[in-house]
Amino acid sequence: MTVIFEKPGPENTEQVLKTACERAKELGINEVVVASTKGVTAYKALDIFNGFNITVVTYHCGFKEPFKSVMPEKVKTDLKKKGATVVSATHALSGVERSLAKRFSGIYPVLIIADTLRLFGQGTKVAIEVSIMASDSGALSGSDIISIGGTGRGADTALVLKPANQSDLFEMRIREIICKPRDF
Ligand SMILES: Cc1cc2nc3c(=O)[nH]c(=O)nc-3n(C[C@H](O)[C@H](O)[C@H](O)COP(=O)(O)O)c2cc1C
Repeated sequence: MTVIFEKPGPENTEQVLKTACERAKELGINEVVVASTKGVTAYKALDIFNGFNITVVTYHCGFKEPFKSVMPEKVKTDLKKKGATVVSATHALSGVERSLAKRFSGIYPVLIIADTLRLFGQGTKVAIEVSIMASDSGALSGSDIISIGGTGRGADTALVLKPANQSDLFEMRIREIICKPRDF
């Protein structure tokens, strides 16, 4: 049964992580991907997904300030020390198209895919995007995963996915929506 939250946002984080962890155990999934900007959701995921293979995906360097990491380097180091894999890479569902859109306006297929996924909520788009980034970094085995995203901060969406690399996006399967917000 999908858990539907009335509102998007970080207040749903704990319930997302706990519900997703229960479902992962039922399905025998042991790989989890989680979006985290500053590390808040990543630390909570590390607490709850005990014994899982956790990949934390951050914003790309330069997202806020040129060449600067949004997640402090000391947080990345600490998350790795606690057993997580940390991935900071080009965003799979915007990439260079963001530069084209800024310079030329117009219509760009990857940005259309992103906005179409946002019809399910920001968190769904993010969960899919970070799963691609984790796949391309070599962090995943290719087995089904739990992927978690949110709206600005925290987590409000969890999916069960058959992951795929960016070059095989249409091989991805969204198997289950564990939770998502109703309104966004
Ligand atoms: C690669 C990446 C892309 C993201 N894109 C969006 C987005 O399009 N819309 C949105 O509301 N949040 C977006 N987020 C924010 C996440 O969904 C999530 O809420 C946030 O990273 C949690 O950070 P925290 O652990 O510091 O709270 C993105 C995060 C990452 C890492």
